[in-house]
Amino acid sequence: QSQPIEREEAKSAAAQKVKIGIYFATWWALNVVFNIYNKKVLNAYPYPWLTSTLSLACGSLMMLISWATRIAEPPNTDLEFWKTLFPVAVAHTIGHVAATVSMSKVAVSFTHIIKSGEPAFSVLVSRFLLGETFPLPVYMSLVPIIGGCALAAVTELNFNMIGFMGAMISNLAFVFRNIFSKKGMKGKSVSGMNYYACLSILSLLILTPFAIAVEGPQLWAAGYKTAMSQIGPQFIWWVAAQSIFYHLYNQVSYMSLDEISPLTFSIGNTMKRISVIVSSIIIFHTPVQPINALGAAIAILGTFLYSQAKQ
Ligand code: 3PG
Repeated sequence: QSQPIEREEAKSAAAQKVKIGIYFATWWALNVVFNIYNKKVLNAYPYPWLTSTLSLACGSLMMLISWATRIAEPPNTDLEFWKTLFPVAVAHTIGHVAATVSMSKVAVSFTHIIKSGEPAFSVLVSRFLLGETFPLPVYMSLVPIIGGCALAAVTELNFNMIGFMGAMISNLAFVFRNIFSKKGMKGKSVSGMNYYACLSILSLLILTPFAIAVEGPQLWAAGYKTAMSQIGPQFIWWVAAQSIFYHLYNQVSYMSLDEISPLTFSIGNTMKRISVIVSSIIIFHTPVQPINALGAAIAILGTFLYSQAKQ
C-alpha cells in the first residue's frame, strides 16, 4: 500500500525538480539575451537612464494589456499593498539604473563579476544594520567573494570608476530590495508574476522624472538620430528586445521565487551570472587576462561557498 504512495511522492518531487529546472533555464536564457541587447543599445546610444525607463515602461505596458485582455488575472491590491511596495520599488529603481549606468561604462562581464559579490553586501547589511549574526563559515565565505571581486577589479583592462561604483550601488540597492520584498511578499495574495508587474509600474513612476532631469528629451532625440544613422532601423528592434527581455527575465525570476527558497534562488542567480559573463565575453570579444578570470572564478566560488555555509 505504502509503495504506490511513495512512488507518487517521488514522481511529484521529480516533476517539481523539472519545473524548477525549466524556470531556471528560461530565466538565464532571457537574462543573457537582455544583457546582450542592452549593451548593443548602450554602445550606440549611451543613455542608461532612458533605457532603464524604457525597460520598465515596456514591462508595465505588457502587463496592463495582459490584465485588460484577461490573459493574466489582475491582482487584488489595496493601499496597504502599494505602501509596502514603495520601498521595494525605490530600491529596485536604484539597483536597475545603477547596473545600467555601470554597463554603459564597462564590459557586461565586469558589471556581473562585481554583481556576483551581492551575498557579501547581504551579510554586511544584515550584520551591521539589522544586527543579525551568522555562523563563522558564512563570514569566511566573504573572503573569496570580496578578494575575488577585488582581484578582478584591479586587473580589469577597461576599469572605469563609474562602472565599478554603479555595480556596487546596484548590489547594495538589491540587498535592500530583497529585504523589503521578503516582508512585502510574506502572506501575500499576489502571485510572483503580478507582484513583479506592480513593482515595474511603481518603479516606472518613480524613475521617469529623474530620467528626464538627468538626461532629458533633447539629448535623447539627438542621440536617437545618431544611433539611427549608424545602425539603421534595426536599432528600434534592439531597444524593443532589451525592454521586452528585461521584463520577461525578471518576471520568470519572481515566478520561480514563488516556488523555491531564497537560498536556492541565490544559487540560481549566481549560475545566471556565469552564463552572462561567459556569453558576453564571447559575443563582445571582451579581452580577459588570466589573472582577471581567476579573480572572477574565486568570487563565484566564494558565492557557492556562501550558499553552502548558509545552508
Ligand atoms: C538591471 O538592469 O536591473 C540589472 O542588469 C539587473 O541585474 P540582475 O537582475 O542580474 O541582478
